[in-house]
Amino acid sequence: MTMNKELKNTFEYIAERVDKQIELFIPKSPEPEGQLYEAMRYSSLAGGKRVRAFLAVMSSALLGVDEALALRAAAAVEIMHTYTLIHDDLPSMDDATLRRGKPALHREFDIATAVLAGDALQSLSFEVMAHEDTHSDPRVRIKLVSGLARAIGPAGAAGGQMIDLIGEEEDMTLGQITRMNRMKTGALIRFACEVGAIMGRASPQYTMALRNYASDIGQAYQMTDDLLDHYGARQDTGKDTKKDAAANKSNFIKHLGPEETRKKVEILINQATQHLSVFGEKDEAKRLKELAIYLLERKK
Ligand code: IPE
Ligand code: IPE
Ligand code: MG
Ligand code: MG
Ligand code: MG
Repeated sequence: MTMNKELKNTFEYIAERVDKQIELFIPKSPEPEGQLYEAMRYSSLAGGKRVRAFLAVMSSALLGVDEALALRAAAAVEIMHTYTLIHDDLPSMDDATLRRGKPALHREFDIATAVLAGDALQSLSFEVMAHEDTHSDPRVRIKLVSGLARAIGPAGAAGGQMIDLIGEEEDMTLGQITRMNRMKTGALIRFACEVGAIMGRASPQYTMALRNYASDIGQAYQMTDDLLDHYGARQDTGKDTKKDAAANKSNFIKHLGPEETRKKVEILINQATQHLSVFGEKDEAKRLKELAIYLLERKK
């Protein structure tokens, strides 16, 4: 990753701690169901970039939330994200063979184990979020749990994934594609940024600023993912490339071509950083701006 030093250090610091947290949440099991825990660990600890964890921890730091609490919520978000990836890779969905540089879970184990590991990661994520160690105030915990539920439900990732599959068969307008991206990818990214606002009981102004920032980077995130599928290299992305066009996926690249898509990403990133100006010169706001800019040049 090309990142400036402060961003790189912060990123690595968060990723390392979130990985440790996830490792603690998914122990090995000697019981007959041990294979399920193995599968959950296999995908969760395979070296994701932890962008969503970064967003959850930095938005929390921006609003004065205790880091240990933020790390638990960040781990819950990453566990949820891993569930969506496992199901996204299934033969009946994107039929992917490679994920995070390793065989996709359904290849390493089998389809049934991949379905169950996804299910179990989803419920584990909610369990972690609802736990009293994540926040002492039950009202805050309810907001976290319901926000997370909405982010992955029919109005969020699951709905977006449905549209994505329909988009292989039917043409979609740019408006429909924008909405799909907002749901399948944007909703969980938006929630990751809201973690700080919810836990830090942020003012409406700050909450809105984080939401607006997150909306823009969420849209840009799926567009850069699509660009990496088009231009990227397998050894960088850890995924098979050139799959979207082969599957006839409806995305910006299909409609506008990669260059126009890239220009739209630049506009979104520029817009995203401007939403953070309400936070002034705070270090955490700077890191969030730098993260947005890094998304422009990410290779994985
Ligand atoms: C990939 O997400 C799927 C999308 C929503 C675009 P990431 O690119 O964040 O995947 P990991 O977590 O780093 O593996
Ligand atoms: C995935 O989008 C969005 C999810 C909600 C999982 P993609 O299908 O483009 O993600 P990759 O490229 O397989 O990681
Ligand atoms: Mg997909
Ligand atoms: Mg996919
Ligand atoms: Mg993709």
